[in-house]
Amino acid sequence: RKKVTTQTLRSLYEKGEPISVLTAHDFPSGHVADAAGMEIVLVGDSLAMVAMGMEDTNEVTMDEMLVHCRSVSRAVKSAFTMADLPMGSYECSPEQAVQSAIRMVKEGGMKAVKLEGGQEMAPTIQKITQIGIPVIAHIGLTPQRQHSIGGFRVQGKSVTGAVKVLQDALAAQEAGAFMVLIEAVPPEVAAIVTQKLRVPTIGIGSGAECSGQVLVQVDMTGNFPPGRFTPKFVKTYADVWGEAQRGIEEYRREVKDRAFPSPGHTYPISKEALAEFQG
Ligand code: KIV
Ligand code: NA
Repeated sequence: RKKVTTQTLRSLYEKGEPISVLTAHDFPSGHVADAAGMEIVLVGDSLAMVAMGMEDTNEVTMDEMLVHCRSVSRAVKSAFTMADLPMGSYECSPEQAVQSAIRMVKEGGMKAVKLEGGQEMAPTIQKITQIGIPVIAHIGLTPQRQHSIGGFRVQGKSVTGAVKVLQDALAAQEAGAFMVLIEAVPPEVAAIVTQKLRVPTIGIGSGAECSGQVLVQVDMTGNFPPGRFTPKFVKTYADVWGEAQRGIEEYRREVKDRAFPSPGHTYPISKEALAEFQG
């Protein structure tokens, strides 16, 4: 498969072909996403929860993100890569954001960065874009701002809310964002925003009219224990957890029964050598 570039993404957008995006957080999850043909692999700060067991995304640091980014970038050969700038790494000033974006490229091996915010982040988006690092703006439900927006709630449901989503999208585009990610916004609103932009929108929980879709890999592959909460917008396409647990339980039984390892899983020794060793 050919390397996906910003040009490839642009031409998919112009053809009206939806762009497929999936998160990854380490070498195997990056490898499988690339092998399955994703156009973009995103190292989301959701790795705080899915890879590090943290409560929410706000705890993960830039240095921790970079370790995961490096693992993913070693695995991904064709897909375009991007990573979240974690909370605390970009809000203080455009200069701080530029320094963090450069680290994502140089140390993390990423090609683009994502940050949360629209209008208020416009100068920051502009600065990072100007130094040659593509920026995707994450608007609508912005998990890093969960405490100020009152939790994980649908955005853009009221007229003022919908207007804010549109204004954020337009401001991000004018500042140079090459894509806009829209989380948890009613599909009609996301569709209108998509129509009004001349850069692709990537939706999560925002309907099928966006220019592309993104999901968190462990959610869509069912790689979590039964009963764990997932948002309404998640569709689970596989049962990786169930299959892994089944295999591990079978292994355990075979260990207890001495059924594993069978002779086929061992290395032979010649009769002569064994006789001499036994003395
Ligand atoms: O952190 C993440 O995985 C994300 C996606 C849900 C878009 O931001
Ligand atoms: Na994120």
